[in-house]
Amino acid sequence: LFAAQTEFVKGVVAMDGMPPDDRLEVCFAGRSNVGKSSLINALTGHKALARASNTPGRTQEINFFTASDSHYLVDLPGYGYAKAPIQTVEKWQRLLKAYLSGRATLRRAFVLIDSRHGVKSVDEEIMDRLDKSAVTFQVVLTKADKVKEVERAAILEQVRTAVAKHPAAYPELIVTSSEKGWGIDVLRAVIATLV
Ligand code: GTP
Ligand code: MG
Repeated sequence: LFAAQTEFVKGVVAMDGMPPDDRLEVCFAGRSNVGKSSLINALTGHKALARASNTPGRTQEINFFTASDSHYLVDLPGYGYAKAPIQTVEKWQRLLKAYLSGRATLRRAFVLIDSRHGVKSVDEEIMDRLDKSAVTFQVVLTKADKVKEVERAAILEQVRTAVAKHPAAYPELIVTSSEKGWGIDVLRAVIATLV
């Protein structure tokens, strides 16, 4: 399912450019710089399949990846702060919203939350949207290597409480570090049950 031959299919800038919805998919949503592209690289065992960077707003298209013509892994542009002109950011946001509301084959959205920061208001907006479009989502904590054990517990509690308010949320959180490889097997196993 996560073979090394995972490949880039296409980058989409408008809804009419979406690949045919002929297979199941999961997507990775989250604030700019939260670690979406890095997580896709960790899941697929690639160093740089999805472009990751320290500049928020690196991923500017909806990027589709696939492994041997099975499911798609979908890397989304970040929301919230991005180092890009406002019109550009607004364009990604419209595309992101359209995608999250209108993709029949989308089995689950993984909403990535930085382990240091917890759920912010822009994350709440995305979760509200997923509730409205009835897309099941699951929260993945990222960059767990950057927080101390004690701090992590408090953030986890904040995230659990926030997530519990959303009808479309799958309650179980997944704690990951793409850097250290933590939680990657768990996430792979969850995806395997979905696609
Ligand atoms: P956009 O495409 O801009 O929305 O960002 P993104 O969510 O795809 O984030 P990306 O994967 O590009 O990662 C952003 C930065 O965080 C990069 O410098 C990564 O190296 C770093 N990073 C990502 N995951 C981890 C992690 O698990 N641990 C640590 N320490 N750093 C990470
Ligand atoms: Mg990215």
